[in-house]
Amino acid sequence: MESDITLIVDGTNHRLTVDTRTSLLDAVREQLGVIAPKKGCDHGQCGACTVLVEGRRVPSCLMLAVANDGANVTTSAGLASGGELHPLHTAFLEHDAFQCGYCTPGQICSAAALLDEAAAGTPSVVTSDVAGIPALDGAEIRERMSGNLCRCGAYVKIVAAIEDVARARGL
Ligand code: FES
Ligand code: FES
Repeated sequence: MESDITLIVDGTNHRLTVDTRTSLLDAVREQLGVIAPKKGCDHGQCGACTVLVEGRRVPSCLMLAVANDGANVTTSAGLASGGELHPLHTAFLEHDAFQCGYCTPGQICSAAALLDEAAAGTPSVVTSDVAGIPALDGAEIRERMSGNLCRCGAYVKIVAAIEDVARARGL
């Protein structure tokens, strides 16, 4: 069965026809040619496909495209605006926080959401004081990024890059 849907990807409206079994990841990559999100496991386990849907991070391999009709989808590429890199892009470059780069778009989308979640006061399992804004120390960042795996093992530099941006935002 097929359905006609609209996806707004990185600010651009797309009308497309999808098999109702098509994942959001496959619709974005294969049908729209937006290749920032990567397919790693295709089973919700690695985070390479992470995008923001209406500002919330999701593993797009586990979402059905048809269930996101009309949604705003932001990929790592879409976090840049007006030709300017997002501060997370810059921090990852400055810290050399990648090797092959395959996991990087998902890491950056997840990190962008992490910063917003902490700023909104959302605690994680390692937050000691759940009443305030959680301070994004290394333990908080590692816990909140635990859904994003890096087969190159660039974790130390990924945490350092996110810490830099968190400090700049007073988190
Ligand atoms: S490709 Fe989606 S979580 Fe691995
Ligand atoms: S930089 Fe290679 S998988 Fe993370």
